[in-house]
Amino acid sequence: MTGSQAKLFTRCIQGGGVAVFPADTVYGLACDPENAQAVRRLYELKGRSPAKATAVMFLDLEAGLDTVEDLGERTRAALRRLMPGPVTVLLPNPRLQFPLACGEDPGTLGLRVASVPELAGVEVPVLQSSANLSGAADARRLVDVPEQVRAGADLVIDGGERPGTPSTVVDLRRYERGLGRAWSVVRPGAMDELFLSAALDGQFHFDPGTYAEMIREDIPGYDDFQDELVELSGEGAKRILELGTGTGETALRLLERHPEAVLVGIDESPAMLKAAGASLPPKRVELHVARLQEPLPRGPFDLVASALAVHHLDGPEKVELFQRVHEVLAPGARFLLADVVVPTEPGSAVTSLTPGYDKPSSAAEQLAWLAQAGFAAHVAWEQEDLAVIVAHALA
Ligand SMILES: C[S@@+](CC[C@H](N)C(=O)[O-])C[C@H]1O[C@@H](n2cnc3c(N)ncnc32)[C@H](O)[C@@H]1O
Repeated sequence: MTGSQAKLFTRCIQGGGVAVFPADTVYGLACDPENAQAVRRLYELKGRSPAKATAVMFLDLEAGLDTVEDLGERTRAALRRLMPGPVTVLLPNPRLQFPLACGEDPGTLGLRVASVPELAGVEVPVLQSSANLSGAADARRLVDVPEQVRAGADLVIDGGERPGTPSTVVDLRRYERGLGRAWSVVRPGAMDELFLSAALDGQFHFDPGTYAEMIREDIPGYDDFQDELVELSGEGAKRILELGTGTGETALRLLERHPEAVLVGIDESPAMLKAAGASLPPKRVELHVARLQEPLPRGPFDLVASALAVHHLDGPEKVELFQRVHEVLAPGARFLLADVVVPTEPGSAVTSLTPGYDKPSSAAEQLAWLAQAGFAAHVAWEQEDLAVIVAHALA
């Protein structure tokens, strides 16, 4: 355990106390989920009916996954993609663990894993509920926690202002069997549905753990290709937008080349972005789970770059994307498109493609679409079915 607040918190919970603490969403109340007296006090403090279920929260993902029994492989993998994060999942509870947290339905367990830097290293599970009076507004700041709740708690931790939106509650009780759409949102909240469906509907064509090896096997010239893109990105960019950041291979190189730049990266895969977040300098990146078909982050950017991602869009989607890229680029700034293309020489394609997921267009087609969107574009490098297109935004 690292911080003193983490130690105080653990001691409070283990001693049967009730704590007010800053969660990654709103302020919460926590106590030992196995201590009936502490649970009763927590419920009384906020005037909540004991018949209502409450989530069991962990502040460490591995502690959570080790404690909850009978998690199937599919569910376990999904939890690793979702957590820690602002989500509470409802799981089947065949062994009737944590009965005091389950209200009138002991067969269902609500699980939450929060990321709270002040409480890093806390391994004990806590029964947690929002630090408000039942039915009243959630507390974004400590002063928003009702006076009587603070006064009645044994420990109060101030974590400054929190985001203010409670967790999204998702029912995963049928998820393991994977029948139909095997999950549903019970209460909308801070984790958006796009993120959820990307994480739960198995839209993962890339596994962040094996990506680095897989891509180099698939594209032997991968590193040269990345270097080429970076070389063509010029110098001195301050605000870069990257489309399809993946695990951050391209982003890392761009940040090195442009030492003063901040990079905004988007990708549809939360798992890939999570890996990117772990390897990129946090102060220099802003990562968003989003599809390239959706509105882009607000410009202006002085460089937009993309490696091996735009070919996942079909022709009309590329046409539309190029127009939106033009809108967020500063006049004269460049868009670098490094991707798989349909080669000019039929039969010279070497990259293995998945029908329906990989939809390359020829370089010539893309140059025409870029011109249509207001770019002066040319192919700056090409090798077999890989090309790097440089497109300057005309004013
Ligand atoms: C081959 S990886 C490229 C990652 C990185 N730029 C690199 O060169 O290593 C393609 C990335 O595009 C993302 N992707 C695919 N289709 C997408 C879409 N429609 N919207 C956003 N991201 C998408 C995938 O999740 C994946 O992370």
